[in-house]
Amino acid sequence: MIPEKAPGGDVLHAPGDLKKEAHIPSFEKYKELYIKSVESPEEFWADVAKDFFWKTKYTGKFLDYNFDVTKGEIYIKCMEGATTNICYNVLDRNVHERKLGDRVAFYWEGNEPGDEKTVTYRELLQQVCKFANVLKSQGVKKGDRVSIYMPMVVELVVAMLACARIGAVHSIVFAGFSSESLCERIMDSQCCLLITADGFYRGDKLINLKLIADEALKKCRDKSFPVEKCIMLKHLTKEDEASSGSLSPPAKRACPDLQVPWNPEVDMCWHSLIGGASEECEPVWCDSEDPLFILYTSGSTGKPKGVLHTVSGYMLYTASTFKMVFDYHSDDVYWCTADIGWITGHSYITYGPLANGATSVLFEGLPTYPDVSRMWEIVDKYHVSKFYTAPTAIRLLMKYGSDPVHKYKRTSLKILGTVGEPINPEAWQWYYNVVGEKRCPVVDTFWQTETGGHVMTPLPAATPMKPGSATFPFFGVVPAILNESGEELEGPSEGYLVFKQPWPGVMRTVYGNHLRFETTYFKKFPGYYVTGDGCRRDKDGYYWITGRIDDMLNVSGHLLSTAEVESALVEHEAVAEAAVVGRPHPVKGESLYCFVTLNDGINYNQKLEAELKKQVREKIGAIATPDYIQNAPGLPKTRSGKIMRRVLRKIACNERDLGDVSTLADSSVIEHLFENRCYTAV
Ligand code: PRX
Repeated sequence: MIPEKAPGGDVLHAPGDLKKEAHIPSFEKYKELYIKSVESPEEFWADVAKDFFWKTKYTGKFLDYNFDVTKGEIYIKCMEGATTNICYNVLDRNVHERKLGDRVAFYWEGNEPGDEKTVTYRELLQQVCKFANVLKSQGVKKGDRVSIYMPMVVELVVAMLACARIGAVHSIVFAGFSSESLCERIMDSQCCLLITADGFYRGDKLINLKLIADEALKKCRDKSFPVEKCIMLKHLTKEDEASSGSLSPPAKRACPDLQVPWNPEVDMCWHSLIGGASEECEPVWCDSEDPLFILYTSGSTGKPKGVLHTVSGYMLYTASTFKMVFDYHSDDVYWCTADIGWITGHSYITYGPLANGATSVLFEGLPTYPDVSRMWEIVDKYHVSKFYTAPTAIRLLMKYGSDPVHKYKRTSLKILGTVGEPINPEAWQWYYNVVGEKRCPVVDTFWQTETGGHVMTPLPAATPMKPGSATFPFFGVVPAILNESGEELEGPSEGYLVFKQPWPGVMRTVYGNHLRFETTYFKKFPGYYVTGDGCRRDKDGYYWITGRIDDMLNVSGHLLSTAEVESALVEHEAVAEAAVVGRPHPVKGESLYCFVTLNDGINYNQKLEAELKKQVREKIGAIATPDYIQNAPGLPKTRSGKIMRRVLRKIACNERDLGDVSTLADSSVIEHLFENRCYTAV
């Protein structure tokens, strides 16, 4: 399946000096290890496991699973019976066994230039132990779920690792989500405590996070799920650094007057609690298959799925993908621009880099604030050598040309990474030529919240690159391409991307709904994990991800389901029906094009349009804000009443070639929709 030899021809290679020091220096080495990893996964992963601390050994099989729904329940287990603690492995092991206590774990760079703080492994461990004791003092125990809704501050890492230390399950909710989305996630995972912050700036915009968190808690209460405890970090309103015991400095852009709602029955201040806490905290030893975290991702039914990852498999997988894909060495400074509220931040800001003892930049701000050179300024400031971002950020910066990039040297850069959506070859070339000056391999990493870590990716010194291709599988991953009938296609082909066997980091279940896990990922093609993405394999065996083939949209690298946006729209009293499709967008990848049918007697006007936009923002969050809303008195439906989205996608793009529309119940709606289509975003 992997070609015998690396292809020649139109491919790009890593520079020689990178190959010399690389963990996997050649395609032959990759191939040799790949074969071992899929033929003897136990041996391969047991080797990786040797680097970690295990309190007790595993008792059964190293990797045990059933991927076939026709043979019984789907399960995946890695090192079951072994006990360990992931927080111990990413902190204590580095400080005590590997003597890395003085190494910088994070260079925190605030939204406002000049707001900065350096945190060593030793300091991080101290803060985590203290906060773990705080959680214990609030009655949080192993297995309890804790919701975290915070900006990109070091305390977010502290909170998640403190949960992991005591075996509590963190459920981080991206701080751009609305109160409704936060409430839904708190209730679904039955969290006993919420950790949040007063507020933060995103560029120029002030976000009163505590206000939104309070609204969420009120919604939970109204739905008979009272959360009795909320810990709030003072990020913008902090008065005195010395007494606060905090890791972030007073923000340059501090906002002491921010009106923070406070309910003394529920609310507690992070700083007062942590001030008196002990620095000693014995980790709680967990089974390999104990839950580590829940992270919600959009589901095609509209209700988000709580993706559950467990301790050991996730640890082994994020640690090894980080090491190999970014070819990590101890003199690197690594920077991933994602938010920890998404899986990229979980795996490649917190767990993967810390497991390797890496030094990372943790950035609170935006690529365009205060100007569009900010990223490259930060690269030079911290001598970043490995840089990981999303195609949408690349396309955004590309718009401003190369001058803002050339203002900074970027000589420290060695490897560039991308994640979140297919990268168009033009953006890839700009990243490679302008940002990396043709010296830095680009690793286009394909993966999902569900996969835990990279599954299809180049290895920077080993894999010849083709711009826009995620190339080949990572160790232990066995991809296949299936046709609609579920047959495996050989050679050059296109179809459904699936995986034939598990790797340690794959999700274990949908929290509280194992049936949904089986139905979503294993039912369509028994025996395979179905990614939901389309994929093409070329004559050289390279894989090219072609995008989602279900009702999901990818807006700026964030997955959204059409159903969740539609249900937010129909909750408005004026709307009878809604259908949402993706329309290609030069920066965001896809934008949201919404068709709405109004209730009888209601007129469409700008006020209503603004209300609908607001409605979606409030129900889901700013990432789901509609770009286009079209008044659609009739929608194209089949005779059985199913909306033909395929046709709506064409209308949104003004493409007249509709293909087969013989199943349409009433074809007259089409012309009307074309005539009234939106040309400008709302
Ligand atoms: O469609 C694929 C796209 O993002 C989806 C996963 O989204 P999420 O779970 O939010 O995780 C994003 C970060 C890992 C995938 O099903 N995707 C992600 N990376 C790539 C990609 N599509 C093409 N190329 C990629 N490198």
